[in-house]
Amino acid sequence: MKSDWSNASYWEHFYNFADTPWELGQASPVLQEAVSEARALGAALHGASVLVPGCGTGSDAAWLAEQGASVLAVDFSPQAVERAAARRSKLSAAVAERITLKQCDFFEEAFEGFSFLVEHTFFCAIDPGSRERYARSVARALVPGGYLVGNFFVMAESEIAARRTLALRDGEPRPPFVTSVSELQRLFLGFFEQLSLHPARNPWPDRRPGIEWVGVFRRR
Ligand SMILES: C[S@@+](CC[C@H](N)C(=O)[O-])C[C@H]1O[C@@H](n2cnc3c(N)ncnc32)[C@H](O)[C@@H]1O
Repeated sequence: MKSDWSNASYWEHFYNFADTPWELGQASPVLQEAVSEARALGAALHGASVLVPGCGTGSDAAWLAEQGASVLAVDFSPQAVERAAARRSKLSAAVAERITLKQCDFFEEAFEGFSFLVEHTFFCAIDPGSRERYARSVARALVPGGYLVGNFFVMAESEIAARRTLALRDGEPRPPFVTSVSELQRLFLGFFEQLSLHPARNPWPDRRPGIEWVGVFRRR
């Protein structure tokens, strides 16, 4: 049976009630750090085709397009996509035309041909049981030499064993679900070379200290 958070209606509820604690109102500084590390390693974002799964209201997508990338930003919540479209409409025409929005379930599409896939609070939002599927979908979406860059919520294995979720509120485990270095390596290293994986230097101040990690992986 699908978990509640594997359905668009679960997320739609948060958007409808303006209860979206994951939203930063700007591109994630940790994501920017990850992109800048990828660039330092030779990745060219300008002119690149970038896939943003679980894009929410599109602040990361807007920043990526401002950097010159062509972005496909997808989310299965109609509200999220509507708000991302509203954000896009406020950008300059030259930037806006580099952003395509698609309302769909990431796992029900067969994306391919991208040179970047950008991860920010999507991996932690999906059910942990879908993570192997995520790794396969991300690997399929990227061309050989393409980059998975992102911000992952990482904890030590011992902490995770004690608590499977970051639990923004008390109650049942639910997103965001944390991960560990060993899980990321188990999921990705069959498809990717690990270029960078470390605690962020510029974490978001309101997020739990030490939780945000930069990850840069290159598709074999
Ligand atoms: C925690 S929010 C993060 C949104 C955005 N990345 C941000 O940081 O503002 C997770 C997003 O993933 C979307 N989502 C979850 N599962 C999805 C799926 N299978 N396909 C597409 N979008 C999904 C939700 O609708 C929600 O907008």
